Amino acid sequence: MLKVGVIGLGYWGPKLARNFHELPDARLEWVCDLRQPRLDHVTNLYPGVRATPDYREVLASGVEAVCIATPVRSHYYLAMEALQAGKHVLVEKPLAACVRQAEEIIAEGDRRGRSVMVGHTFVYNPAVVAMKEIIASGQLGQIYYISATRVNLGLFQPDINVAWDLAPHDISILLYVLGMEPVSASARGGVYVQQKKGLHDVAYLSLYFPNGLLADIRVSWLDPCKIRTYTVVGSEKMLVYDDVAPVDKIVIYDKGVEAPPYSDTEEEFHLSYRTGEAVPYPLKWTEPLQVECQHFLDCIRQGSEPRSSGRVALEVIKVLEAAQCSLLNGGSREVIGGSRGFCAHRTRRETGPRCQDLCLREPVWL
Ligand SMILES: NC(=O)c1ccc[n+]([C@@H]2O[C@H](COP(=O)([O-])OP(=O)(O)OC[C@H]3O[C@@H](n4cnc5c(N)ncnc54)[C@H](O)[C@@H]3O)[C@@H](O)[C@H]2O)c1
Repeated sequence: MLKVGVIGLGYWGPKLARNFHELPDARLEWVCDLRQPRLDHVTNLYPGVRATPDYREVLASGVEAVCIATPVRSHYYLAMEALQAGKHVLVEKPLAACVRQAEEIIAEGDRRGRSVMVGHTFVYNPAVVAMKEIIASGQLGQIYYISATRVNLGLFQPDINVAWDLAPHDISILLYVLGMEPVSASARGGVYVQQKKGLHDVAYLSLYFPNGLLADIRVSWLDPCKIRTYTVVGSEKMLVYDDVAPVDKIVIYDKGVEAPPYSDTEEEFHLSYRTGEAVPYPLKWTEPLQVECQHFLDCIRQGSEPRSSGRVALEVIKVLEAAQCSLLNGGSREVIGGSRGFCAHRTRRETGPRCQDLCLREPVWL
């Protein structure tokens, strides 16, 4: 039995608490939130679990692992303190507010010999795992481009834009299914509802991968309908993954276009369209968060690198920093690399203290 504590019991934390309470090889020992009603809610569900508004009490307890489900501004400080207290950590996405913070968390985990895993829940989704298998099997041919949409009405975040809130899911999915990282990124977007704060509520990200593969991600808190779709276009076949479809979440389309091998004249140049059958791909469904939580426990026990490790999350944050830089610079194409100084909380192009210096110097709790 691995003893686990959960810090942050807003929207997402109780789902982690439920899973660790239900898994047979874990014991949910402590829960923590600054708000008493949230503590009451969870302790009513799981009597016997200890509760506190002070995370230091959780870190001083005998729990071996801590889940951090607070807003991103506190991830770095809580994760560092938890690692320094000798705990394994499962930090919600995004791992941190900038590249420098993420690098420090990873280094601290390595120094202490503790697991750092990040809540990239979709890489534990059976449909995403299937999408990776299908792409790797080669049946779609060469992948030309991928188009992803993640939109709904809300949930607006008060301190980060929609790209930092929702795109970590899509970036982590793309890195996982393609098994490679993009080399550059650009982003455009709009600020409509939270104008005073300058927080984008809609963003269009373009990621450029090696071999010319292009991936587009549209994220929005300002759309009337919940849409979660992927279209993967290959040279042989095409795939559509609809996460909100009740059945047939993945369908493979035998569709394509072929140009004639040669043509001397314009008249001879005829494209031929292939429109074959659409075949649903069978999936065995398990709750992704349950798979994620079990994986966290297994990685701790075996000392193995999690699928959504801190290192993977760092690559996701490099993409987010490049996208943030582009978003604030009119959609410029940015090379993805190390720290760019465009953290989750930077909303203007102004020069001034580099954000990463601020992020590491001053705790930003509120
Ligand atoms: N993996 C997923 O699919 C998924 C889905 C939703 C949210 N999330 C992530 O989960 C995290 C939390 O999101 P949310 O929507 O639950 O936010 P939320 O605002 O609903 O809840 C955050 C909770 O943390 C508490 N909190 C803040 N600072 C604290 C501290 N120092 N000590 C103790 N409690 C503290 C707040 O009181 C609040 O109840 C974010 O990182 C978000 O991106 C992940």
